[in-house]
Amino acid sequence: MASITPVQLEALPDVGGPAQPLLSVRGLTKHFPLGRISPTAARSVVHAVDGLSFDVRKGETLGIVGESGCGKSTTSRLIMSLIEPTAGEVVFDGMAVGSRALPLKEYRRQVQMVFQDSYASLNPRMSIEASIAFAPKVHGMPHAQAIAAAHELLQAVGLHPAQFAHRFPHQLSGGQRQRVNIARALALRPRLLILDEPVSALDKSVEAQVLNLLVDLRHRFDLSYLFISHDLNVVHYIADRVLVMYLGRSAEIGDVASIYAKPAHPYTAALLDSRPSMDPARRRTAAPLHGDPPNPIDPPSGCRFRTRCTTAEDVCAARVPPLAPLHRRHAAACLMALPGSGHSLAPAAATHHPLPEEAANV
Ligand SMILES: Nc1ncnc2c1ncn2[C@@H]1O[C@H](COP(=O)(O)OP(=O)(O)O)[C@@H](O)[C@H]1O
Ligand code: SF4
Ligand SMILES: [Mg+2]
Repeated sequence: MASITPVQLEALPDVGGPAQPLLSVRGLTKHFPLGRISPTAARSVVHAVDGLSFDVRKGETLGIVGESGCGKSTTSRLIMSLIEPTAGEVVFDGMAVGSRALPLKEYRRQVQMVFQDSYASLNPRMSIEASIAFAPKVHGMPHAQAIAAAHELLQAVGLHPAQFAHRFPHQLSGGQRQRVNIARALALRPRLLILDEPVSALDKSVEAQVLNLLVDLRHRFDLSYLFISHDLNVVHYIADRVLVMYLGRSAEIGDVASIYAKPAHPYTAALLDSRPSMDPARRRTAAPLHGDPPNPIDPPSGCRFRTRCTTAEDVCAARVPPLAPLHRRHAAACLMALPGSGHSLAPAAATHHPLPEEAANV
């Protein structure tokens, strides 16, 4: 793919080496203020994202899963700097986003996004080639070079330029439009793609094709992915590690293989159990996860999952469970996983109490 790398738009070099995370999120928080009921009433806020910390490592796919409304899209918008955080920071390859070392404009080139709605992301009046060439031209690439690069990107995402370059978005299927959106996201040679439910609107057969394309492109373009989905099967297929979110917080993080084989958080276990099974013998009659998540305007004290947790005890209302490392590559925010937490099913107290920072590095 060397020929499509134009002189002025090369992927930027690895700054901190392979061991330094590509993206580090620390204490990320977003509270959306709502209007007051009366002038004297306290202002209520939506606790959309509350103290989230995680890393995306170089070359990996980190999946984020959780029910609708748990803060996945808000997290992606915070990382893209599309909205201001209430607290917390985003660090890219060791550089604070918006600092002198990494101005916002440069950061935005290196991190690109693909959304669920393939149609809304494309200008209906622009041809496909013009859409893909648009951002490189804004960055100073000559027209002919940008069009040539757009054609090579179309080829890379499996669309014949001769057949598709001059079409308009409404002349494409949902899967083809999503391929165009992926080509557009690659046009500035980013290092990280944030994919927010990129296949959720597609049919199952098309979904598989687009997932396979994403796997292929990650290797070919030396990318890392933050892959957001409510679908655990999709995340199982594509991700190396997974972060499970519940009501704005991390419930569990670790290797996909470890978490799917042995979830440590009751929420993750319930989500995995709720998946439809192909095996009639394993088909459930009752859903393991009852009710809806509580209102994020007034989240439960202590553990936010306690109102739906079958193993909740009094201590769960009093203590916020920290993300406790279980072993080298797996951590869970449940008092049953925290030695000496006061939960009757917790292991005895350990001598070493890990810092939250250690858990974020899992
Ligand atoms: N601009 C906003 N103003 C107020 N509340 C918002 C806003 N954006 C999102 N929310 C709320 O924040 C919570 C998280 O939303 P979101 O990040 O979209 O979740 P997800 O992507 O996981 O479905 C939801 O309760 C949602 O209603
Ligand atoms: S901390 Fe308590 S309520 Fe929360 S998941 Fe663990 S057992 Fe359930
Ligand atoms: Mg969303």
